Amino acid sequence: MRSSSLRIAIIFSAILCISLLHYLTPLHLHYLHDIYQRFYYIPIILAALWFGFRGGLGCAIIVSIAYTPHILFQWGGHFTMEMEKYLEILLYNIVGSLTGLLSQREQERSLQLQQTAEGLEESYKKLQTQSDRIIAVEEQLRRSEKLSSLGEMAAVLAHEIRNPLGSIRGTAEILKDDYPPGTQKHEFIEIQIKETERLNNVVEDFLKMARQQPFEMSSCSITEELETIVKLTENLARDQGIELLPEFRKSVKIITQGDGEKLRQAFLNIINNALQATLPGGTVSIDTRMTDSAAEITFKDTGTGIDSTIIDRIFEPFFTTKADGTGLGLAVTRKIIEGHGGSLKIDSKPESATTVVVSLPLR
Ligand SMILES: Nc1ncnc2c1ncn2[C@@H]1O[C@H](COP(=O)(O)OP(=O)(O)OP(=O)(O)O)[C@@H](O)[C@H]1O
Ligand SMILES: [Mg+2]
Repeated sequence: MRSSSLRIAIIFSAILCISLLHYLTPLHLHYLHDIYQRFYYIPIILAALWFGFRGGLGCAIIVSIAYTPHILFQWGGHFTMEMEKYLEILLYNIVGSLTGLLSQREQERSLQLQQTAEGLEESYKKLQTQSDRIIAVEEQLRRSEKLSSLGEMAAVLAHEIRNPLGSIRGTAEILKDDYPPGTQKHEFIEIQIKETERLNNVVEDFLKMARQQPFEMSSCSITEELETIVKLTENLARDQGIELLPEFRKSVKIITQGDGEKLRQAFLNIINNALQATLPGGTVSIDTRMTDSAAEITFKDTGTGIDSTIIDRIFEPFFTTKADGTGLGLAVTRKIIEGHGGSLKIDSKPESATTVVVSLPLR
């Protein structure tokens, strides 16, 4: 806008200056008038280039109006004697219109080109997001293939392991009665029962992950599920000297469609990892945030962090760095979150902090 006003000001000043030169220069210096006459083409061509057909013709008309009194009153206005000057006026108008028309066409063409380029860029971006999505889906497919073959194995394992485990535990319980607390064998039997329980949990977890159980979707309050998790873990955190910070209490309550029990399991797995990684004196915070289309739940700990060499592997089933870990926690968690159409992101600074962001679509 400012540049158009400046251009108009330049054109008018040029016309004014050239006209003044005509009106103030004595007529006997006719060779100077011949030169000034040509000067008028400068504002006309500029107006045509800047403002197209209407600009070029408009400027030529203004020039004609400014120049005509000079011909009529100073040169006498004799038609045949001043024919060349009248022709010049005609030329001003032809040049203004033609140059304006051509520059307008050029401008329209470059606009079209620009629009085509923008369209192309948009298509390219769309193509890129589509190819990103295809890569993500392919990755998901590969993971689910891996999990479904694990599922078949799990069925066999469940049959082969769970029943004998039940017998071992049962017999240990019977034997326990024969060895009262305080005797050395009582302690062995306690260990036996505890270890059988642990083994049973591993099989249970594995089954939970491998079975293609459908989600039971219903209206579910993420805030309330988090509240339950805080209640479940606050004692453990206190015993370990870790401060649990339920920041989500300050945010708005989030309600979405989901399987509350499964989501609770996913959140618990994340919190357990955070508590296991954090040393006494550290903190674990839980916060929530709503975006236009999703609920974001952020778990932050001040724990040991995850080494960059293993961060790509932490979602693999059975990958663990803990002596008593099963390595199924995050694999199960991711399956639950993705089953809800959400995503799970982990960002970690080795030796200082880990942030897990769960994003769930709001339905
Ligand atoms: N908050 C965290 N801080 C540091 N390391 C983490 C954190 N969360 C996960 N990890 C790393 O990721 C690995 C895999 O976690 P995952 O929960 O799948 O299994 P796990 O905790 O080892 O065993 P479990 O099956 O008992 O949960 C962990 O062994 C740990 O090395
Ligand atoms: Mg875990």
